[in-house]
Amino acid sequence: MTGTAKHAHLSQWKCPSNIALVKYWGKRDFQKPMNPSLSFVLRNAFTETSVELHKNGDQKVTYYFEGAESPFGERIEKYLNHVSGQFTWINKYNFRIHSHNSFPHSAGIASSASSFGALALCLTELDFVHSGKETDSPEFWQKASELARMGSGSACRSVYSGFSIWGQTQLFESSSDEHAITLSDGVNPVFSGLRDAILMVDSGTKEVSSSVGHRLMDEHHYQRSRIAQAHENINELYLALLTGDQEKFIAVVENEALSLHAMMMTSNPSFLLLKPNSLELINRIRRFREKSQIPVCFTIDAGPNIHMLYFQENELDVKAFIERELLAFCENGKWIDDRIGSGPERLSDGLMDWPSTSSGAGPI
Ligand code: PMV
Repeated sequence: MTGTAKHAHLSQWKCPSNIALVKYWGKRDFQKPMNPSLSFVLRNAFTETSVELHKNGDQKVTYYFEGAESPFGERIEKYLNHVSGQFTWINKYNFRIHSHNSFPHSAGIASSASSFGALALCLTELDFVHSGKETDSPEFWQKASELARMGSGSACRSVYSGFSIWGQTQLFESSSDEHAITLSDGVNPVFSGLRDAILMVDSGTKEVSSSVGHRLMDEHHYQRSRIAQAHENINELYLALLTGDQEKFIAVVENEALSLHAMMMTSNPSFLLLKPNSLELINRIRRFREKSQIPVCFTIDAGPNIHMLYFQENELDVKAFIERELLAFCENGKWIDDRIGSGPERLSDGLMDWPSTSSGAGPI
């Protein structure tokens, strides 16, 4: 990934995926959520992306995924067209984008969150450097979050460290449907050692894309009560995060995971995404919790894989439990060992020939 040619401008970021504890399900307008959501970023599941701008060539976007040119470039081109309303310089350039994921495509981890997070950070950096704006300001992260949201809603929660909230809630005046906000202040240290064992039940392609899934909420009989439930759950969960209440955390997280699937099962058309092995894992996790009194719980995205959440201090016991009782229900015994992460990282300051202030006659 080089960008040393004249008129080539480079930005490079690493951005994590995230897992929602209060789920975003249903949207309105353009990529705005029906309800607020709360998530944390992972440490080991991330995307690295570099964006190079060129003045020549006739292809608007050349997109390389894991080193090979990828048809995902078409979606990126549409996305760039959309955000060019805000960053007009986008229209003047051709883009060469390289992207790489730390996790396999089929791992059941939302790759759109980390991919759009990384791309949005690159675009925001290019824009801020061009206009001479500070790239480590709250405004920078907010803009990156907003831009990420336009690619994939949940991606807006990937640009901060630890926990984030996206969507308007009475909890924070600064909360917004346009971008996520960070919850870094005040979260009890108990949660800094949060672990996520991703138990792979089925690595096949998703039965329902998230855009189809969100649309199911448009006419859903339970729409109003689901929105009310999410607000209640986010209040409860935030309180649990502040006070270090693991029991409350577990109750809310499992309620949210099962409510997401309840919404899918009761929509028209209806989707049943949990597999027999997903249910077996859920039952075993609950039984283990009851018997051992070790605080473990599960959350689930729009698929069959189970994210088992636990705490650092129980790592040995929980890993022994995974080996002993859970691997038999995972596809080829596969699971991913992840944990709460510290957010995105700038990989280079490789903005070779951008002007450093907005007053310069730059290439934009
Ligand atoms: O960001 P999308 O459109 O891929 O939707 C994500 C939806 C869930 O993963 C099921 C929930 C969430 O809040 O991440």
